[in-house]
Amino acid sequence: MPKMKPILTAERHPHAPTLVQLAAGGPPAEMIFGDWYPALRSARLRSGGAALAMLLGIPLLLGRKRSGALFAMRDLCPHRGIPLSVGWFDGDTLQCKYHGWRFEPCGGRCEEIPSLTEFDSLVPHKIYANSFPVVERDGYAWVYVPSAGAGRTPSSEPGQDLSLSALPPVPELPKFGPRFRSAHLQADLPCNVDHGIIGLMDPAHGPFVHRAWWWRSAESIHQKTKRFEPLEDSEHNGRNAGFRMSAHAPSSNSTPYKLLGKPVTTIDFRLPNRRYETIRAVNAKGRERWFTSLTTVTPVTPTSCRIDVVAAWNIAYHLPLVTPIVRYFGAKFVAQDQQTMVEQARGLRFNPGLMLIDDADLPAKWYFALKQRRLSGEGEHPLQGPVDLHWRS
Ligand code: FES
Ligand SMILES: [Fe+2]
Repeated sequence: MPKMKPILTAERHPHAPTLVQLAAGGPPAEMIFGDWYPALRSARLRSGGAALAMLLGIPLLLGRKRSGALFAMRDLCPHRGIPLSVGWFDGDTLQCKYHGWRFEPCGGRCEEIPSLTEFDSLVPHKIYANSFPVVERDGYAWVYVPSAGAGRTPSSEPGQDLSLSALPPVPELPKFGPRFRSAHLQADLPCNVDHGIIGLMDPAHGPFVHRAWWWRSAESIHQKTKRFEPLEDSEHNGRNAGFRMSAHAPSSNSTPYKLLGKPVTTIDFRLPNRRYETIRAVNAKGRERWFTSLTTVTPVTPTSCRIDVVAAWNIAYHLPLVTPIVRYFGAKFVAQDQQTMVEQARGLRFNPGLMLIDDADLPAKWYFALKQRRLSGEGEHPLQGPVDLHWRS
């Protein structure tokens, strides 16, 4: 029998808000349940280990069984509500600190209630703690967060009959070949998920927020035209609908393009919170270079969110130095956004009226319309076909 170990040592104070979350005091956002969200980096979950996360206001205890299976439980004992994370985990079952109820964490089934005697008729197996489907992908533990009252969702335990096929597909970073490098970034944002998302798709802040010698100056501002088209996701009833910015392929035939090929960039936004960027170039020799990223803005609570970026590329695959460079500049870039949102949160605390202008804020208007459509289950896609937007940035 493996030894029962206390679950958390470094994180004895579960769900203590981060400094950035403490700064959040603005208006709450309505959150979209019934979809997959990245809870944390799956590398943090070693065999027999566990870690805490918060998604959509739900405290979670994630972990990895000795079998390798991930689990994600609501970090509350169904008996009297103490966090399960103050109890024990032996790599197989969780035990509550208060009265020792024991749970299989993938499905949540209660395996033992130590206080029961032969005079009791209560069957522990009929009791379930709340557990959520969890899948490891692109270095994240993705958790499916059902809407309240949706009933029990399929467990992630391999070998169980319940399957994930009833759920929407787990998001995946596109990759165009087996050999690539990758990097991850994350930042807490002290604003609600709506502000995080419209900040992500906002084209006009670049010259001001991302002003840097290595990126661009405010004087480099110039007029741009970009074509957008609707993404319907009719396969899933519009659940993950969104829109695509399809870049006009550069027309010049300059030397770098002959070496690298003409890069073609597409940027997709999909509900509830996903931005996919794909850059592909085929050079004269037919060699393909690509860079992709998936950025998500996940509600941690109704008033705070977190941005996660995972990127992969095969450009300069043989130069190991590229990875720290991408990580360094990527982190600077995200830190500029984060810093701005920390400052914006100081203003949002006073709940000011806000305005969205054409054309630079039109993608933000589409986002709100799509979100409303998903929450209400009715309405049209705000984009009826391809449109060109113009702005200076
Ligand atoms: S509160 Fe968990 S066993 Fe009683
Ligand atoms: Fe930005």
